[in-house]
Amino acid sequence: MTFPSTVSIVEVGPRDGLQNEKEHLTVAQKSKLVDLLSDTGLTRIEAGSFVSPKWVPQMASSDEVFSAINRRSGVTYSALTPNMRGFETALAANVDEVAIFGAASEQFSQKNINCSIEESLERFAPVIESATERNLKVRGYVSCVLGCPYEGDIAPEKVADVTKLMIDMGCYEVSLGDTIGVGTPLKTAQMLDRVLDKVSIDKVAVHFHDTYGQALANLYVALEKGIRVIDAAVAGLGGCPYAKGASGNVATEDVLYMLNGMGISSNVDMSKLLLATNYITGVLGRKPQSKVANAIL
Ligand code: HMG
Ligand code: MG
Repeated sequence: MTFPSTVSIVEVGPRDGLQNEKEHLTVAQKSKLVDLLSDTGLTRIEAGSFVSPKWVPQMASSDEVFSAINRRSGVTYSALTPNMRGFETALAANVDEVAIFGAASEQFSQKNINCSIEESLERFAPVIESATERNLKVRGYVSCVLGCPYEGDIAPEKVADVTKLMIDMGCYEVSLGDTIGVGTPLKTAQMLDRVLDKVSIDKVAVHFHDTYGQALANLYVALEKGIRVIDAAVAGLGGCPYAKGASGNVATEDVLYMLNGMGISSNVDMSKLLLATNYITGVLGRKPQSKVANAIL
């Protein structure tokens, strides 16, 4: 069996994690989390989201977070931008990279961004165009790739089609999101096979939530297929406010422990990562969702 020798972890805790917290953190707390994560060796950090504050109040201060962080050279600080309004604010905040986010489920698309899949792609087109003109890279997300809280099963062909459309529109990478963490390894393999029929593997990332405890098993399958980009959130924070029942992302600590054990390099330092874990769980007043963090700490 051959696995990739190196993997890039995309840390989404400051965005996917904090967007779902009942407690609204201060700008100082959010930027300190980003700074601690910047010290770990992580090179990609999703630090905020330029969405409607009525929809996701937790992310309302993302522009202030971007001005408060100490940017480390070599680290890319990205943010979600669902439309031109968000893109322009992100540009003013000097983000390094933006992400558009669509879905493979019509009903989730309506619930999350208030439009159909087709309409969402129309809204993303000018964002991708304007970003590309400014030499900013655009990541795409497809949500509900292994199931939807409103529609149930999602056809792998639908996931492949939306992914291919996003790549053709100009996304350099598409992250496949198991938004509600219902996927299992065989389903993951089947979904990835359909996507990889249409899109080259260097353009595909995976994004597992761990609601049913399947995320590491699913990641193992993705690694077996040769996927080299994995999204994760420190302390297993996370969830989408518009996906009922969704719990946190797979914990960065758990992913790192598994990669280290498999001899796959990610360049992330566990002890420095645990400083970020300790900090954010202290702020939130609870234990990490990460088994590894709990075992080590
Ligand atoms: P809408 O209500 O259809 O849009 O929302 P609108 O254009 O009619 O605007 C409504 C109001 O929002 C207006 O303000 C706009 O100005 C304002 P008003 O006139 O009422 O005062 N507005 C904005 N404000 C700030 N920034 C903006 C912006 N756009 C409009 N960018 C919209 C459409 C997309 C804006 C809304 O549905 C929204 O913000 N949705 C975001 C939902 C979200 O962030 N979900 C979580 C992220 S996705 C996720 O977690 C999944 C992922 O992790 C992958 C996975 O796990 O699968 C990525
Ligand atoms: Mg997510």
